[in-house]
This record gives sequence, structure tokens and C-alpha cells, in this order.
Amino acid sequence: MSQAFDVVVIGGGPGGYIAAIRAAQLGYKVACIDEWKNAAGGPAPGGTCTNVGCIPSKALLQSSEHFDHANHHFADHGISATNVKIDVTKMLARKDAVVKQNNDGILYLFKKNKITFFHGRGSFVKAVEAGYEIQVTGANEELLTGQQVIVATGSNARALPGVPFDEETVLSNDGALRVGAVPKKLVLIGSGVIGLEMGSVWRRLGSDVTILEGLPTFLGAVDQQIAKEAKKAFDKQGLKIELGVKVGEVKTSKKGVSVAYTNAKGEDQSIDADKLIVSIGRVPNTIGLNAEAVGLKLDERGAIVVDDECRTSLKGVWAVGDVVRGPMLAHKAEEEGVAVAERIAGQHGHVNFNTVPWVIYTSPEIAWVGRTEQQLKADGVAYKAGTFPFLANGRARALGDTTGMVKFLADATTDEILGVHIVGPMASELIAEAVVAMEFKASAEDIARICHAHPSLSEATKEAALAVDKRTLNF
Ligand code: FAD
Ligand code: NAI
Repeated sequence: MSQAFDVVVIGGGPGGYIAAIRAAQLGYKVACIDEWKNAAGGPAPGGTCTNVGCIPSKALLQSSEHFDHANHHFADHGISATNVKIDVTKMLARKDAVVKQNNDGILYLFKKNKITFFHGRGSFVKAVEAGYEIQVTGANEELLTGQQVIVATGSNARALPGVPFDEETVLSNDGALRVGAVPKKLVLIGSGVIGLEMGSVWRRLGSDVTILEGLPTFLGAVDQQIAKEAKKAFDKQGLKIELGVKVGEVKTSKKGVSVAYTNAKGEDQSIDADKLIVSIGRVPNTIGLNAEAVGLKLDERGAIVVDDECRTSLKGVWAVGDVVRGPMLAHKAEEEGVAVAERIAGQHGHVNFNTVPWVIYTSPEIAWVGRTEQQLKADGVAYKAGTFPFLANGRARALGDTTGMVKFLADATTDEILGVHIVGPMASELIAEAVVAMEFKASAEDIARICHAHPSLSEATKEAALAVDKRTLNF
């Protein structure tokens, strides 16, 4: 006998657990299946984001930033901190405790919303009259029926061809968050989001860090004025980033790893390191889902094919988050989860892909929403640009962090905001104002005329909006 549910969600990451909560709020009988195990083998819902992604990486970024400040910035404030040491074991234990708080929080939310949680792997068995049969294997062995099924099985790190992750020397994001001692030399392949965030963590803690990037342009998807400013800051910090390289043979030994590559000038090079982090993107995950049993269509990348509203090729089966097209971001997965639950209920759930913010949590932070200057040029859109440097912002001076700027891009005729790009302190928080403004189709003048608290970093946002009309007040 199977247990019958209105909605069965496969995957308990940000896409899945949020979809489950919203469906339960809407009155459905909901099950959520997630297979992630903690170190003791128990359930650890929250997916990549909670266990080996967003949350643990931000915990380590915070710890390493404190260390960096104690070493390099306290003295400016008259605080002496000599012989500052990092206890990596303790830092990792704190990170694990932060992760556990989040796992427990999600288990609590399941209970609060009367969602039945199954710890194990969910696989399609067959389509039945009442929907789909889903087999749970693992800690809970159960057969479920879901009238509607939401697949939110996430993604996995992409390995270099022929170089599997051993998580000892060749690390994915998982191993990169568990390195037990500061490596003397660390090489990363890929200077995308993970490369920059994890490279920053270990550089701050004392590693000699080199990042090898295949493309000739640094952060090609980021507004290039912002990317250049960020690169200057990373260069100054001693984060070595080599662009336009072609990675060759990777050899591991007891001593570490050796990476052969051709540099941008076409010269053969080789670099030795204690550890290698491979951060060259992620692949959608449908392992063990048994998609073929029900004929669920995948594309050539292995992503589940969905329409604009997350409907798959099968009636009553939806898919959200990293396992489908679009940016691999936790908040995008969550928005899709909410929208799908609402669509199941006959409501008009909506995700605006034009206003999904991006944040890279380095120092300086990089955050943006909307189109870049290079995209506007390529699209032939007439625009006005306005920038304001944190150097001219009182709060940034008081904080002692004046790196970077806020940049506004607005339509040349209507003044509607088309993109906002920030590199600098607390960019991750500042970007929220820009997202709200763009959702409400605000003009740059709207932001320029709104009262912003003084002294605050948000005044740089207001000033950048003023700069669109060439009328900054403090610069
Ligand atoms: P996931 O979080 O991957 O969750 C999928 C879940 O499904 C997993 O628990 C998996 O075990 C489970 N599962 C898979 N198959 C089955 C099955 N058959 N049965 C049962 N369970 C199954 N994004 C941000 O927005 N901000 C950040 O700061 C950020 N930092 C990141 C840092 C790192 C190092 C990494 C790797 C990623 C980061 N991301 C960040 C991306 C973010 O983690 C993902 O976009 C997000 O987790 C996707 O959510 P999801 O629900 O689609 O999938
Ligand atoms: P990424 O797509 O951000 O960056 C991968 C980089 O590797 C690119 O610059 C690419 O050109 C380069 N590359 C690819 N193949 C290569 C090769 N063979 N040799 C050298 N360089 C190569 O992917 P990343 O950093 O692995 O992160 C995966 C995803 O996880 C991100 O795209 C993002 O969606 C998510 N994420 C989000 C974070 C955030 O929101 N702060 C933090 C970390 C990850």
C-alpha cells in the first residue's frame, strides 16, 4: 500500500523545502523526500545550499574576514592584536554548528507546516491514475503516491575530464569547505563565484592562492567596470588570478598536486600545490530519480526540460531550482518553488528573471541586478550611466572600507532603471533596494529623490542615482 499525498516534493534544498512549505500553506497534504545525510547519518535537509554551499561558505568567509581584520585592519583603529592565530578545527566546528542550526530549522518548519518528511532517495516508479508512484529508499523505505510531483534535486560540482574529486587533494565545493589545515599553496581552477569566494577564504587565512581561469575576461557576466574594480582589489590582496589559460594534465601524489597549463601567451607552465579546488560550474542532478521510468524529458546538459512556468514534459510533474534552466541560485530556486505551489493551487505564481540579484561574497562584495553596460550596448539600448565611489561616502570612510562604487544604468529616454551594479562594502545588502526599485519599474530619479539615512552606505546608491542626471551632491 502506498501513502497518498496531494504533493510529493523530491529534494529538500531551497527549491524543494520552500515549495513544500508553500504547498502546505495552501492546504495540501505534502510529503518532502530528501536524502542528504549529516556526519552521523541522520537527516540534513537544506540541500547544497545549507550543507555545502551558501551557508557554510558564508560562515568561513565571516571567520576568515575577522582573521584578516585582526591581522591587517585593527591597527588602524588603535587596537593591537599581536600573534593572531587561526584554529582551523574550531573554525570548521563553528561552520558545522551553523549548518546544523539550519538543518534543524528546516526539520522544525516541516513539523510546523505538517509536512511529512522522508529521509531517503525518491525515485519515480510509474504513472498511476492518482498521479505518480514514488519509491523512497534509505532510512525510510516507503511507497508514496503524489497527485502532483515537484522535482528539486539540485546540482553537483562539475569535475575536470579524467580528474575525479577525491576530496583530499582534488576538491569540489564539498572538500573545499572541510580543509583541515591552511594549505601552504592552493590552486583553484575557475575564477567564477566559488573560485573567488573559496580562494578568498584560504588566502585570508594565509594560503598562497592561484586561480587559473579559462576565459580571457575576468567575470565576463559582470559589468566590466565593476569587474575591473574588483580585480584591482583582488590583485592588491595578493589573490593571483591567471586569465586565458588552458589546463592540461593534473597529477596527484602524496605531496599534493601538480597542474600543467598553457598561459595566455601560449607558454607551457606548471604549478604545484597542496590542494586543488575545481570550481568550473555545476551540472544538474537527476541521479537515482529514475526519470526514464516515466519518460521525464531531460536536455543535453542533463537538466529537466521545463517551460517558463516550471512544467515538465509530464502532466502534474514540475521541476525547480538548479535541476532546471536559469541561474543556479538559492533564491531563484525558492522563488520557483513558491510559484509552482501557487500554480498547483490555480494561482498565478510568477518569477521575474530580470530582477534576480547576484552576489559574490568576496571583499569587496560584488552585487548586481538587471543588465550590464556591455549587454545594453549589445542590445542597442540607449542608456545613461551614473556612478558614485564609496571613497566619497562618509559611512564607508568611518568603516575604513572605501573600495568600489555603485553604478546605475537607466533608459536614456524614460529614465527607468535597467541595471544596478555594486562593488564595495555590504553590496549584498545594498542591492535589495535596487531589486525593489526595478520590480516597481522605478526611474533613477525616484531613487535620487528618496530620503536615505545619514551616514549610511545606502547614500552611495542615492548618489549614483543622482549621478545618472550628473547632479551628485557629495562628489
Ligand atoms: P539543492 O540545494 O542542491 O538541493 C537538492 C536536494 O535534493 C539535496 O539535498 C539532494 O540531496 C536532494 N536529492 C537529490 N536527488 C534526490 C532524490 N532522488 N531523492 C531525494 N533527495 C534527492 N546560491 C546563492 O543564492 N547564494 C550563495 O551564496 C550561494 N553560495 C554557494 C556556495 C557554494 C560553494 C555552492 C556550491 C553553491 C552556492 N549557491 C549559492 C548555489 C545554491 O547552493 C544552489 O543554487 C541551491 O542550493 C539550489 O537549490 P535546489 O533546491 O535547486 O538544489
Ligand atoms: P561559475 O560558473 O561561477 O564559474 C566557473 C568558472 O570556471 C568560469 O569563469 C569558467 O569560465 C571557468 N572554467 C570552466 N571550465 C574551465 C576550465 N576547464 N579551465 C579553466 N576555467 C574553466 O561556477 P562555480 O564557481 O563552480 O559555481 C557554480 C555555481 O554555483 C555558480 O554559477 C552559482 O550559480 C552558484 N554559486 C553561487 C554563489 C553566490 O551566489 N554567492 C556562490 C557560489 C556558487
